[in-house]
Amino acid sequence: MSKMIATHALRTSTRGIHEHLEKSPFALAALDGSLGEQSYVGYIRVMAVLHAALERCLNRSAHPAVNKVWDPELQRLPDLLEDNDHYRRRLVPDMPRTMAAAAQAASHMLLVSNDAPLGLLGCLYVLAGSSRGAVILEPRIGATLGVAPGRGLSYLSRHAGEGPAAWERAAARLDALAASPEEIGVMIGSALATFQHLQDAFASLWPWDESASRYTAAGLNPESGEHPVPQAQGDMEAVLQATDRILADHPYFISRYGARGRRFTDADGAWLATLPEQGLEFMSGQVAWLGTVLAARGMPRVLLGRHLLILAEKLPRIRPGLDESFGTRRTGMLRHVGNDLLRMMNRLFPSPMLRLHAAEMAQGLGGLDDKACVEAVDLLAGAVADEQGGAPEGAAPLLAWLADADRFSKSWVEAVHQRLDLLRRAARESLLLENQMAAS
Ligand code: HEM
Repeated sequence: MSKMIATHALRTSTRGIHEHLEKSPFALAALDGSLGEQSYVGYIRVMAVLHAALERCLNRSAHPAVNKVWDPELQRLPDLLEDNDHYRRRLVPDMPRTMAAAAQAASHMLLVSNDAPLGLLGCLYVLAGSSRGAVILEPRIGATLGVAPGRGLSYLSRHAGEGPAAWERAAARLDALAASPEEIGVMIGSALATFQHLQDAFASLWPWDESASRYTAAGLNPESGEHPVPQAQGDMEAVLQATDRILADHPYFISRYGARGRRFTDADGAWLATLPEQGLEFMSGQVAWLGTVLAARGMPRVLLGRHLLILAEKLPRIRPGLDESFGTRRTGMLRHVGNDLLRMMNRLFPSPMLRLHAAEMAQGLGGLDDKACVEAVDLLAGAVADEQGGAPEGAAPLLAWLADADRFSKSWVEAVHQRLDLLRRAARESLLLENQMAAS
C-alpha cells in the first residue's frame, strides 16, 4: 500500500469538484479583484460556521486516528470570528441560500462525528488543504478590499502564512495512518460532501443579489445556530446598541465570556427583539426558557431582565415599515417581561441594602476595588433571587467563576462565599417578614 495513499486518493477524488469551485463566479471574482465586501463577509461566515462545527467535533473526538491527525495548530475559528467582528457595525446581510448550505455542511459534520468519525478527516482535508488556495487569494482580497491582518483579513493571512506548512504536517500524519481502502472511502465521501456544500454556499455569494439578502443569526454569531432576527436595519442597530450598553453596565460579561459573550448577546438580543411579534404569552415562555439556559451558564436572570429593558429603550417605536401602535406595544411587552425577571430581586434586595453589602465587602477586603464588590454583590443577589424563585441551578454556575480559587485571591473567594451566605439569610428574613405581615 502506497505511503501517500490517503491524501493522494483524496486529491484525485476531489479534483473535479475543486476545479469547478476554482472556476465558480465567486472564485473568479475573488481572483480578478471584482469581489464585493458583502460577498467576502459571506465567505468568512461560511468558513466560520464550518470551522465552528468541525473544530468542535475534532476537539471532542475520542477516535484514535482522528486524534493522531488533528492538531490545534489547524484551528482557524478564532481568526474567522475576529474577521467577522471587524464588520459587526456594518451590519452586512447574508444570502439565505448560502447560510443554509453552510448549516447543512455543519450538520453533516455532526452526523459524521457520531456515525463514522473517520469522515471528519475528509472534512479536515478540505478545510486545511484550502490553505494552498489561500496563498493565492490572500493578497488579491487584501488589495481589492483594503483589509489587513487584524482588520478583516486575519483568517486568510494566517491560512496563507502558517497554513500550508501546518497542512503538510497534518497530511503526513494522515498518510502515516496507513488507512484501509474502506476507511479512505469514508474520508472521500465526507470530503466530497463538504466540497458540495461549499459549492452550493458560494453559488449565491456572487453576483450579490441585494433583493435576496437578509440578516441572519449566524451573521451576528457564526456559533449561534439559526433563529429569527429582525430584518429592519434600525432594529438591528438598536440590538447592537443594547449589547454595548448591557456589556458596559456589567463588565462581568466580558471578563468571564470575552468576545464570545458579546457575540451571543448580539444574537440573543436580536432574537428577543423578534419575540413581541408572537404575542406576550409566547414571548414570556421563550424568555423563561432563555433565562434558564443563561442562568445555568452563570448569568442570573436579572441580567436578562435588564437586557430586555435596554432593548425596550433602544428599539425604535416609530420607523418606516413599522406600525406605530405595534412599535408601542413592542416596547410595552419588552418592559413587561423584563420587569418580571427583576421582580424577585427588587422584592428581596432594595438598592440601599445592596449598597451596604457591597461597602461591607469592600471594607472586609481592605478597601479593595469598590466597583468589583458592587458588581459581585449584584450578581450574587441575582443568583439568590433565582434560588428563591425556584430555579434549579442555584448559585453554583456563578460561583464556578466568581469564586474560582485559580483565578482570584483566597480572601476574595472567602468574601464571595461569606457574602452569599449573608444574602441568602437576608432573603429568608425578608420573605419571613413578608409572610408575617400578610398573616397579621
Ligand atoms: C479561488 C479559489 C481557489 C484557488 C485559486 C485554489 C487554488 C488551489 C491550488 C493552487 C491548490 C494546490 C493544488 C496542488 O497542489 O495540486 C489547491 C489545493 C486545494 N484546495 Fe484550493 N483553491 C481555491 C479554492 C478552494 C476552496 C474554497 C477550498 C475549500 C474550502 C479549496 C480546497 C483545496 C484543497 C482541499 C486542496 C488540496 C490540498 C492537498 O491535496 O494537499 N480550495 N487549491
